[in-house]
Amino acid sequence: MKRKKIILENFTITDYAAEGKALGRFEGKVVFVEGAVPGDVADVLITKNKKDWADGKAIVIKKFSEERADPFCIHFTICGGCKWQMLPYEKQLEYKQQEAADAFKRIGKLTISMLPIIGSEKIIHYRNKLEFTFSKKKFLTPHQLKELHDDAWPGGALGYHVPKLYDKIIDITECWLMDDVNNSIRNTLRDFSVKNNYSYYDIKEHKGWLRNIIIRNSTAGGLLVNIVFGYDDKKEREKICNHLLEKVPSITTLLYTINTKWNDTIYDVATNIVTGKGYIIEKLGNFNFKISPKSFFQTNTMQAEKLYNVVNDFAALNGNEIVYDLYCGTGSIGIFLSKHAKKIIGVDVIEDAIKDANENAAINNINHASFFCGDVIEICNDAFFYLHGKPDVIVVDPPRAGLHEKLINKIIEIAPEKIVYVSCNVATQARDLQLLHEKFSVKKLQPVDMFPHTHHIECIAELRLR
Ligand SMILES: C[S@@+](CC[C@H](N)C(=O)[O-])C[C@H]1O[C@@H](n2cnc3c(N)ncnc32)[C@H](O)[C@@H]1O
Repeated sequence: MKRKKIILENFTITDYAAEGKALGRFEGKVVFVEGAVPGDVADVLITKNKKDWADGKAIVIKKFSEERADPFCIHFTICGGCKWQMLPYEKQLEYKQQEAADAFKRIGKLTISMLPIIGSEKIIHYRNKLEFTFSKKKFLTPHQLKELHDDAWPGGALGYHVPKLYDKIIDITECWLMDDVNNSIRNTLRDFSVKNNYSYYDIKEHKGWLRNIIIRNSTAGGLLVNIVFGYDDKKEREKICNHLLEKVPSITTLLYTINTKWNDTIYDVATNIVTGKGYIIEKLGNFNFKISPKSFFQTNTMQAEKLYNVVNDFAALNGNEIVYDLYCGTGSIGIFLSKHAKKIIGVDVIEDAIKDANENAAINNINHASFFCGDVIEICNDAFFYLHGKPDVIVVDPPRAGLHEKLINKIIEIAPEKIVYVSCNVATQARDLQLLHEKFSVKKLQPVDMFPHTHHIECIAELRLR
């Protein structure tokens, strides 16, 4: 049975809510609204209706809030990328601070006040990595669909996934997240593929040649591009690679990957070098880091340096400490702290990241750091701590899901003097701080904005053994 559409007309948005939403109240019910800001009056389509709350989407803004700024991107509203560009940057920071404070109070049951959020100097072109997807299925808005003739085929697309639609791609012609070179690379590949009638991947049918492009750059001038194909066609592959190198001569490393699997992940597939070293070098503080196509590296380089400086301040090492860098990626935090540590032990589950971490230690002439590959909850057992020494400081930087309870219990048992917890999700961080509470007290909380125009918040917590 088809459910009746509910639209709240002329609904007033009164406040900001977590995860980029705003809220208003209707007949005693809180309605969380996507696509609106406090002060807007909007027609809101209800997408989920529960007893005490509802979710909705602003479909028409009737009166724009005075808080609003003019969005700068032509893909705004359709692309899920920079959803907050209708808010001035200072407001974004204010809301992030508020969301983090709410999470620590409500979930973490913490009473300490947070330090003011560290804003990003660059609010466009701040990312060092972007990934675009080719798809046979271009996303069209209802308006564009209406204008399409019955027999017309809208063609493929090269751009970003549409939120919640896994097989449709928004054709991106301009993206402000990275240096303008991302636009040259993507648009060059699109134009060339259209001219040569190359097929784009269809994720449902598992057919098509061009799949993804991954672009990484560094402040030191490196520019790495990896083109992912669904199968190999040597002649055409060489043609498209040569064309890209000719049109974008600033590329320092070009790679290609053949991914014949159904899923898009390339962690388990070899990358092949067309030209260059196969990696780029980034500088953070006084250290150089090797970034290969598959390894994790903080995507906002300038803010990463600020983040690591906070970690350094919170760790406050005196040179005698054994420091564990758990979820270490390419070892960047451990290496950044190494000057003032007696020993650094890093753990990450990605083999290539650990390879890079060991190489990064060597590049920087650090020989008191060792990095190990494996799942933290399997690797960090008694024998591991016995072998490498009881930690004085543990730095953790987990993915959004936060720390596994097994690891939390192990940390409580091992009882280091200090924990520095870096997180990209304040809700799971607040939950974990609460779980660590019996043994550790939270001394400082420092949010850092790594992702302007999104609702994402990075936060660093300093915990001390009680
Ligand atoms: C947010 S990143 C942090 C990377 C690093 N600290 C940095 O600043 O670049 C999270 C890292 O956790 C790793 N990871 C995820 N789950 C893991 C697990 N169960 N055990 C070990 N590492 C894991 C990922 O490979 C990724 O490198």
